[in-house]
Amino acid sequence: TATKTQFISTMSVGEDNVSSVKRQLTQLFEISLRETVPGESDVVPLVDSCSEKSGVKHGDYQCNNAMVLWAKIKGKQTGFRGPPAVGQAIMKNLPPSEIIESCSVAGPGFVNVVLSKNWIAQSLHRMLIDGIDTWAPRLPLKRAVVDFSSPNIAKEMHVGHLRSTIIGDTLARMLEFSHVEVLRRNHVGDWGTQFGMLIEFLFEKFPNPEEVNESAIGDLQAFYKASKVRFDSDSEFKQRAQQAVVRLQGGEIRYRKAWKQICEISRTEFHRVYERLGVQLEEKGESFYNPFIPSVLEELGNKGLIEESEGARVIFVDGVKIPLIVVKSDGGYNYASTDLTALWYRLNEEKAEWIIYVTDVGQQQHFDMVFKAAKRAGWLLADDSLYPKATHVGFGLVLGEDGKRFRTRNTEVVRLVDLLDEAKSRSKTAVLERDAAKDWPEEEVDKTSEAVGYGAVKYADLKNNRLSNYTFNFDQMLNDKGNTAVYLLYAHARICSIIRKSGKDIEQVKKTGKIVLDHDGERALGLHLVQFSEVVEQACTNLLPSTLCEYLYDLSDIFTKKFYSNCQVIGSPEETSRLLLCEATAIVMRKCFYLLGIEPVYKI
Ligand code: ARG
Repeated sequence: TATKTQFISTMSVGEDNVSSVKRQLTQLFEISLRETVPGESDVVPLVDSCSEKSGVKHGDYQCNNAMVLWAKIKGKQTGFRGPPAVGQAIMKNLPPSEIIESCSVAGPGFVNVVLSKNWIAQSLHRMLIDGIDTWAPRLPLKRAVVDFSSPNIAKEMHVGHLRSTIIGDTLARMLEFSHVEVLRRNHVGDWGTQFGMLIEFLFEKFPNPEEVNESAIGDLQAFYKASKVRFDSDSEFKQRAQQAVVRLQGGEIRYRKAWKQICEISRTEFHRVYERLGVQLEEKGESFYNPFIPSVLEELGNKGLIEESEGARVIFVDGVKIPLIVVKSDGGYNYASTDLTALWYRLNEEKAEWIIYVTDVGQQQHFDMVFKAAKRAGWLLADDSLYPKATHVGFGLVLGEDGKRFRTRNTEVVRLVDLLDEAKSRSKTAVLERDAAKDWPEEEVDKTSEAVGYGAVKYADLKNNRLSNYTFNFDQMLNDKGNTAVYLLYAHARICSIIRKSGKDIEQVKKTGKIVLDHDGERALGLHLVQFSEVVEQACTNLLPSTLCEYLYDLSDIFTKKFYSNCQVIGSPEETSRLLLCEATAIVMRKCFYLLGIEPVYKI
């Protein structure tokens, strides 16, 4: 399977991610497996953490190789009598390690590992001294492209684009944290036949091009609609619009200029949203790839991929009946020709090894066909677990209360700026209701309201499995109880206030103090903390931000229910150690917030 091979390729990179408990145990089991069945070479260790939620727990981690191995060696003269015996042997052959406190074999040969709490404590302490970045995973690639947000000029930037923006930004942040250089690409829809109509309409409205600016045009979406009405109702206008497309593509100065003006106005609007959300992107829109299309299609033609079909030029790919059209019957290029070219550019010019596309699931087939065509061309490998590779990160719809596509009030589409305004003003009301905020300066109230409001919108999106639809509900996402950003941000602020209230200089405590994990609550918290690295690695590998959200929520839960409610911090004999656990929790929470694009809150 993909994860299996990925694991091997990750390990062969040489720079092992030593901060990952799972990876370290995997290496130990690899040695043991080789020892246990010397003849079998390609046995991949199946090691995973044991979830609290799965009921009976015999250890912190488990190795599940015994059954698989048994199936392989059954007929041979190995002396084993069954999977449990194989499990026993795997356990016995484990090299000694400071990570492991004890091992046992359970059921049909599961090898359970209990981690050494001294080792957990030491890892935590080392992280406190050296910084959380030392816990960053190492992925087996150098450079990735994340293609996200990618709205269309003059058309609406709708909640679908908001999802793409939020999910794409998180994926980029997680990969960047994991030592991958990420090219954040905004594949803006800035080319296409709609521009003929827009340009002609612009000429009509503003005979003097000097007068064109954002405030004169006002709402670009309304402008688009009005021009569409004109286009549909007047055949003479329609003809001129069609001419305009040709003239624009031919590079006529006046038309290029008008096109640029329209793009610029859209861009300003997009940027307002990005700025609010703290998202960085580099625009390389569809038009950027235009000059490269002919030579890329020529290459594909030379490789024998392109066929003629009903006047169009197309590529057939495995498992899909309809072909991918790369040149329309009128000779024009389309979305697919641009995407094939962009993929070529990203692989060959930008030397990216992983190209990730974040769009709604509706575009899945498009990307499936583009990737398959690229495989036929030999640009990508057939095996998706190897780099270079391309992945479509699909997501579901945003629904309103009525279960239909999300809309606000009477507007047909939701303006993202309005949505963010509302998130902020609602969270401001809630912030002002809190005692702590009574004597805050306006600026602080504002900053907190933004952190909470935008954080809530982002988290409500990211916590779901991205493939499922989710219902947009302000009341729910701004609730301070339950699995929300508000709850998590407040939990973090409370931990910070425990540290403040102790009156201790935490930097000093880090240097002189020692972490002890004698209480079950302390140990459970410590264990969860040292698993941060492998969770980020998993979230990157599967491109699932929800994995990180789950981890963060569990962390807050374990801190409160297992640790804080049972282990007095201030004034207890264990105060020093427990303050360090508070600090480690706050640091890991903040890194999770950072990776999710959420601003932390320190006081509340
Ligand atoms: N502009 C497209 C849309 O709004 C999304 C582009 C996604 N990226 C890509 N390389 N096709 O649907």
